[in-house]
Amino acid sequence: MRILVIGSGGREHALVKALAHSSTASALFAAPGNPGTAQLGTNVDIASDDLDGLVTFAEREDIDLTIVGPEQPLVEGIVDRFEDAGLRIIGPSAEAARLEGSKAFANQFMNRHEIPTASFRVFEHDEYNEAVHYIEEVGAPIVVKADGLAAGKGAFVCSTVEEARDALDEIVKERAFGTAGDKVVVEERMVGEEVSVLALTDGSHYVLLTPSQDHKPIGEGGTGPNTGGMGAFAPAPIVDGSLLTRICREIIEPTLQGMQTEGTPYRGVLYCGLMITPDGPKVVEYNCRLGDPEAQVVLPLVESDLVEVFDSLADGALETGSLRAASGAAACVVLASGGYPIQYDTGYDITGVEEAEARSNTSVIHAGTRRREDGSLVTDGGRVLGITARGAELGTAINRAYQAVDLVDFSGKTHRSDIGEKGLAHSSDS
Ligand code: AMP
Ligand code: GLY
Repeated sequence: MRILVIGSGGREHALVKALAHSSTASALFAAPGNPGTAQLGTNVDIASDDLDGLVTFAEREDIDLTIVGPEQPLVEGIVDRFEDAGLRIIGPSAEAARLEGSKAFANQFMNRHEIPTASFRVFEHDEYNEAVHYIEEVGAPIVVKADGLAAGKGAFVCSTVEEARDALDEIVKERAFGTAGDKVVVEERMVGEEVSVLALTDGSHYVLLTPSQDHKPIGEGGTGPNTGGMGAFAPAPIVDGSLLTRICREIIEPTLQGMQTEGTPYRGVLYCGLMITPDGPKVVEYNCRLGDPEAQVVLPLVESDLVEVFDSLADGALETGSLRAASGAAACVVLASGGYPIQYDTGYDITGVEEAEARSNTSVIHAGTRRREDGSLVTDGGRVLGITARGAELGTAINRAYQAVDLVDFSGKTHRSDIGEKGLAHSSDS
């Protein structure tokens, strides 16, 4: 089978790596890909938002199956475009991708289907005074969010009313997120531990990937500004069997059923960002794709042939519960550029990748890297590499990842040193 993966980050390198294990994958392409995907397949110089270019390439190259990594092309309708051209593709339609593309839509959808989430109000951009009034009435802590896609930066968890008003000003008056701020969602702040539960679904049937946990803030102990994710681990020991059953019954199944009833069946990856509150699991956000860096830890824990799974998903013939998970655990530590997520420089030489990769059960996943013409590897983004390791226990996976982290270097290299600690606190292998 000839497979095209769209995107260029760590998630897409992890995806291409997992697909490369399948004997059914006869050719693998990544558009535009990165130096990591280039080692496993062919990079194609087409941007992930060039929908026309991607359709033309898939037709010309007889691509059997396309898998979309990032949210932007999904929200812009890449799946509809491919399907109109008779091409097979994994992902939700533009209508279904509104679960991620509009936080107002997602929250209102959850209310319609009694899916647990924060209490909220939606304000149009010309309802600034009403929003201020509501924030003052409810008081802090409170969460203010831009409705649309904002690269993970559009949510403000505010401890004071003043902070919430500043967030509102940034979204509505300063238009910091452009049209993504045409609506604002003001939410109750939920308290608990966050977990990422990802399902692959053909619209009615689904299989679960191993529950994982991300580390969004840049600083140790969850301090400082939010990033795309500084590291992840799986499984998440907080999600025991009974909690997982509850998540399926109260969140995943009603979401799939609700989307079907509303005439917009959801196909592809359904990422449920959950808060495990004292009242049970509640949805913080839906994403319409694999998480990054969650993909780096959940994909190596899939024992089933991933190409076969995606193939049956595309045919609408997924068998619920059919995914075999590997035993053990995985951890990923993200190496970022100094100054990320605010401001950083790129173009620094990276050393030690081969040494790190040579270690047992360890992979170096490329995210923001680039090769110079002479073949040397340099930094090219905020999140540069994800050092991923597996182990029989979570503690072993974490130790292995950190041993490899020490081997890789570049100017300004920064990372969190507490990845996985919240998992160890829940498990007995610490
Ligand atoms: P989002 O962009 O909606 O994923 O939000 C980014 C991050 O903000 C989440 O991962 C949470 O850590 C935090 N967050 C968002 N909404 C809430 C909420 N209602 N209560 C508490 N934390 C939240
Ligand atoms: N790691 C969070 C996300 O992919 O949205």
